[in-house]
Amino acid sequence: LSLSGGRIVPVVRAIGEVFLAGAGPGDPELLTLRTLRLLQSADVVIYDRLVSAEVLALANPEAEFIYAGKDEGHQNAVQAEICELLLDRAGRRGKRVVRLKGGDPFVFGRGAEEMRFLLEAGITVEVVPGVSSAIAGPAAANIPVTHRGIASSVAIVSARCKGGRLNDWRKVAGVDTLVILMGAKSRAKIATSLIECGRPADEPVAFIERACTPEQRVTETTLDDVAASAIEIEAPAVMVVGEVVRLRAELADLARAAMDVEV
Ligand SMILES: C[S@@+](CC[C@H](N)C(=O)[O-])C[C@H]1O[C@@H](n2cnc3c(N)ncnc32)[C@H](O)[C@@H]1O
Repeated sequence: LSLSGGRIVPVVRAIGEVFLAGAGPGDPELLTLRTLRLLQSADVVIYDRLVSAEVLALANPEAEFIYAGKDEGHQNAVQAEICELLLDRAGRRGKRVVRLKGGDPFVFGRGAEEMRFLLEAGITVEVVPGVSSAIAGPAAANIPVTHRGIASSVAIVSARCKGGRLNDWRKVAGVDTLVILMGAKSRAKIATSLIECGRPADEPVAFIERACTPEQRVTETTLDDVAASAIEIEAPAVMVVGEVVRLRAELADLARAAMDVEV
């Protein structure tokens, strides 16, 4: 019930549903079956910048597609608009909405913020996990993020914290493998800080640009080269720091040798 011009009138709320789903790192083959099925039956798809065109092409063609990419510096304003859109399509119009995020919705995706907003507004939300670029990126470059005897701990770290400040690298400097997201631009500062925190200057580093897409490019280097700005990297990229990076060359040699084995 609500008051309108002094009269009490019933308010009809058409409650829809929001699926907060991960689109994986880009390759549609890495989409989960659950997300695929939801996309095929969606009324509305609200998608982020890193969701690939190939994944979107699998969604219900009759659905309403809304781009919700966040350019640097406008993230908070755009986030408020996205919440308003979700409220309108699911809450007011009763639509079945897939809120599609690159990778996994809860890995640096502001997924829980949107979930909290929707639950507070009384809208049902289901989280559908996705394959995160933090794991899929290194794997697609033949870099295991853990390896018995070499790395028994791994940290997934954002290059930046709330407000755009660079992360405090002392907190994670002792972890065997560091997988750093959103760090392409600030890579030199990150590498310098990691060396200052005691990581060896010749520690191997890999960048996987546009992982799991036809444009994937892998660059292997060392912390001191990154600190000296000796390499060119473009976002989106996953940065991997740790001894596990050396396994890539070893596995590549073995793969080549396997091709030469006569059966
Ligand atoms: C806002 S975070 C979102 C992470 C995402 N939720 C996930 O689980 O992959 C965006 C960052 O993820 C990384 N990223 C996402 N997709 C990528 C891809 N296909 N290749 C390389 N890096 C990617 C980049 O570091 C990018 O700056």
